[in-house]
Amino acid sequence: MGLRVNDLKVYYQTLRGEVKALDGVTFAVGDGEILGLAGESGCGKTTLGKSLIRMDGRMRHTGGTVELDGAELPIGDDRRMNRFRFSEVSIIPQYAMSAMNPTRKIGKMVADLLESRGLRYRNLAGELERRLDLVELPREVLGSYPLELSGGMKQRMVMVISTLLDPSLLIADEITSALDVSTQKAVARTLVGFRDRGFVRSVIFITHDISLTYQIADTIMVMYAGKVAEKARADVIVNAPRHPYTKLLISSLPEVGVRYADRKLAGIPGSPPSLLDPPTGCRFRDRCPLAHDKCAEEPPAVEVEPDHFVACWKA
Ligand SMILES: Nc1ncnc2c1ncn2[C@@H]1O[C@H](COP(=O)(O)OP(=O)(O)O)[C@@H](O)[C@H]1O
Ligand code: SF4
Ligand SMILES: [Mg+2]
Repeated sequence: MGLRVNDLKVYYQTLRGEVKALDGVTFAVGDGEILGLAGESGCGKTTLGKSLIRMDGRMRHTGGTVELDGAELPIGDDRRMNRFRFSEVSIIPQYAMSAMNPTRKIGKMVADLLESRGLRYRNLAGELERRLDLVELPREVLGSYPLELSGGMKQRMVMVISTLLDPSLLIADEITSALDVSTQKAVARTLVGFRDRGFVRSVIFITHDISLTYQIADTIMVMYAGKVAEKARADVIVNAPRHPYTKLLISSLPEVGVRYADRKLAGIPGSPPSLLDPPTGCRFRDRCPLAHDKCAEEPPAVEVEPDHFVACWKA
């Protein structure tokens, strides 16, 4: 049944006011689907990923609903979410590799994690070893410290751990950013393999690297300033985008395999608006080459053809 997110609003409370990081986000991810989530730095990708599993102290669920496999996820309730974490929804957070406790052996870390879920390491050890074999990690890694593993090995280890309980949804946030290009591809392929084997049912793959996304994602969702700009099949987003922002993103790709800059985009003057006090109407308006009077009103997301959603008056 997959994930359904409806008009989700999640704001950060700050001394300067509310940062409207997710401001009415609606989309679905089907069973077996890998959704690539793209967009410039600061558009709300990490906030979306975290909202689906664990909000941090300053985040507030202001509106909207999240449903996983037909059941509502109590995302605003940290305690009630506990039941879903790791078993139903799992995350490989941004910087997961460097967040591994350096003084704890990896096997011990896994055991602690399982125990915190009321599970026994012994009962899952066989499956764990089988999966280590599958990602070509020697079983000895369980007796090693994180420092003893290369970046690629650590990333595969984190992937095995986070999917050990076969969650319905896996969120992978920038999991390849710190890796070299060939390791990135291997990690991405591993993720696809996990989906193919049913270790995870659906995946939200967050990355700056739209060309890498294109290689593994079934669908791509482009966000801009806390909203969804466009969502469609990956080949449609890359070959026939309809939203002006997506078009600029794609045309700024130098070539496949090269990531686009995590800064201002070449060819798009200006930068995304502040989410403390976002502009009314289309948030892309002051950078959009096609902006016209109508754009002072917020464009609704329209399904322009089956499974292709665009929020733009000109699309
Ligand atoms: N802890 C926080 N407190 C206040 N604002 C935040 C916090 N974390 C992120 N933001 C803001 O929320 C917006 C979305 O950020 P984020 O989800 O990290 O974007 P992305 O992952 O796409 O780079 C940005 O405007 C960012 O400045
Ligand atoms: S709604 Fe208007 S400003 Fe926004 S992307 Fe479309 S044309 Fe540009
Ligand atoms: Mg991020």
